[in-house]
Amino acid sequence: MRSLLITGGAGFIGANFVHYWQHHHPNDRVVVLDALTYAGNRASLAPAEGDPHFRFVRGDIRDQSLVEGLLKEERIDTLVHFAAESHVDRSILGPDAFIEANIIGTHSLLKAAKQVWLNPQSSALISHRFHHVSTDEVYGTLSAGDPPFHEASAYAPNSPYAASKAAADHLVRAYHHTYGLQVTTSNCSNNYGPYQFPEKLIPLMLINALQHKPLPVYGDGRHVRDWLYVEDHCRGIELVLDKGRIGETYNLGGSCEKTNLYTVKALCALMDELAPGSACMPHASLLTFIKDRPGHDRRYAINPGKAQRELGYHPLETFESGLRKTLIWYLENEHWWRALMDADYQDWMTTCYESQTKVAAFPRSPGIGFDPGEDER
Ligand code: NAD
Ligand code: TYD
Repeated sequence: MRSLLITGGAGFIGANFVHYWQHHHPNDRVVVLDALTYAGNRASLAPAEGDPHFRFVRGDIRDQSLVEGLLKEERIDTLVHFAAESHVDRSILGPDAFIEANIIGTHSLLKAAKQVWLNPQSSALISHRFHHVSTDEVYGTLSAGDPPFHEASAYAPNSPYAASKAAADHLVRAYHHTYGLQVTTSNCSNNYGPYQFPEKLIPLMLINALQHKPLPVYGDGRHVRDWLYVEDHCRGIELVLDKGRIGETYNLGGSCEKTNLYTVKALCALMDELAPGSACMPHASLLTFIKDRPGHDRRYAINPGKAQRELGYHPLETFESGLRKTLIWYLENEHWWRALMDADYQDWMTTCYESQTKVAAFPRSPGIGFDPGEDER
């Protein structure tokens, strides 16, 4: 039996991980530490709250004494670190919060873990794990013909978000190399699924479409992301915890490269099928090209070969099945996303989008099926 501390467990992937873990390891202790920033949502943990093995603590990962206290009091042996500022567009408009949460916050957690787990004076745990959840964005951008990122790819982060995650990755590595902290890191591609805050591409497009609002595609829409259904990411982290080698990094990806245009058109086609009563059929008519994101990485892709070989990692969900599950979840959980549409959210939408120049309404004929065509894959 494990006792886990999950930082950022009220965020998108963290909450999914809590549900995944409780389902597969019902006797493990699960303690969530989350500051409940705009992206943290206690409602995402509602299915976990009644479980006697579950505890929620509102707090900041930069509070080292709080973390040390939790590690001792709960006899934590496994720390899974999700907490972060995670949205590239916000990092472009306000990078300071990313330095604080992602770099200072990760360092504070590492100091707490070292103090409790490696201190010979305290009841040090022989076996412990600090698992750091990171992103493929630390590797920068790929051109069309480049091979996908792998664990030995050079770090070349391009956004303040990616740079802050890269710094955190280096600190985690250094605490293993220098002090012997038992760490693992996973660098994952773009996730989607239930409980994702509607600022990221897929939930933003879904919720805008449900509200008959424009679907804002940056630039030419041909930027490529490698999509992974969030439950497959959770399974990948479980495999790293179970079988990963200490001090190692594992790249987790979906082997599912899609242009943004393909993704948005696929979502629109699914909306046409699953929300046929909508007043704005076909939903692809809402597509709107807007000014590109500054420094926008053209392509991300992950080579998950090491995780496949060493851990037996394989995503179970296809892009179509994952998108369908996601859309159904948002259709069935309108109360969850409606509660997020507050003044802060409206301010963010105004700041991020209304200052953007609308370049053109979507020019193509809509009404396509799920597969929008080879040219946009
Ligand atoms: P999210 O923004 O949805 O959630 C982040 C959570 O961290 C929130 O609950 C927030 O309240 C909490 N948090 C932020 N600062 C904190 C602090 N100082 N102290 C305590 N809690 C704090 O993020 P997400 O999409 O769930 O991503 C989780 C992790 O996975 C991040 O580290 C991110 O870099 C990484 N990641 C995300 C993706 C993706 O596609 N979303 C892909 C690869 C890696
Ligand atoms: P996002 O979900 O923000 O993830 P990331 O930037 O970390 O990959 O964006 C995914 C892709 O979608 C990225 O290429 C930017 C693009 N995008 C849009 O075209 N419009 C939008 O409104 C958003 C939020 C993203």
